[in-house]
Amino acid sequence: MPSTVITYGTFDMFHIGHLNLLRRIAGLGERLIVAVSTDEFNAGKGKRTLIPFEQRAEIVRSIRYVDEVIPELSWEQKVEDVQRYAVSTFAIGDDWQGHFDFLRPYCEVVYLPRTEGVSTTELKRSLNRFCSVSREDVLHAFEVLERLRQDFG
Ligand code: CTP
Repeated sequence: MPSTVITYGTFDMFHIGHLNLLRRIAGLGERLIVAVSTDEFNAGKGKRTLIPFEQRAEIVRSIRYVDEVIPELSWEQKVEDVQRYAVSTFAIGDDWQGHFDFLRPYCEVVYLPRTEGVSTTELKRSLNRFCSVSREDVLHAFEVLERLRQDFG
């Protein structure tokens, strides 16, 4: 039976940090299962995704390192997943260091270093900055309007 590795995540606005992690995790076994969190599960955590579950799942499923995608519906499903899919290794980024050690009686637990300088949170912030109108732009618009009013008003 091929050795199976599993990981969990949201994978919103799929980026290079996600790709690097999946490549490295796939190297830990022969078969990689990714549990992608559903929109409902995220909502319960107060987390809103930009990309809906079906699309996030489809993107992750299309990554060549990934063999199967399952939905992540709750915090509690991990032990059952590990047993159901005969998982030998659970792996995740080290922002979760120590968090899933309770799985050690069931499988190996590995925390891998994150890719520096990229995250969905940071991408969302950049998007906000990119889309928002700066104070200078607003002031400039008022100046232009005032000039037009003086010239033609
Ligand atoms: N990850 C990583 N390197 C990054 C970003 C994420 O290795 N630069 C890993 C996380 O550690 C996790 C997986 O990718 O194991 C999925 O993370 P996710 O939370 O979906 O991505 P983030 O970009 O960290 O999103 P957020 O900022 O919303 O937490």
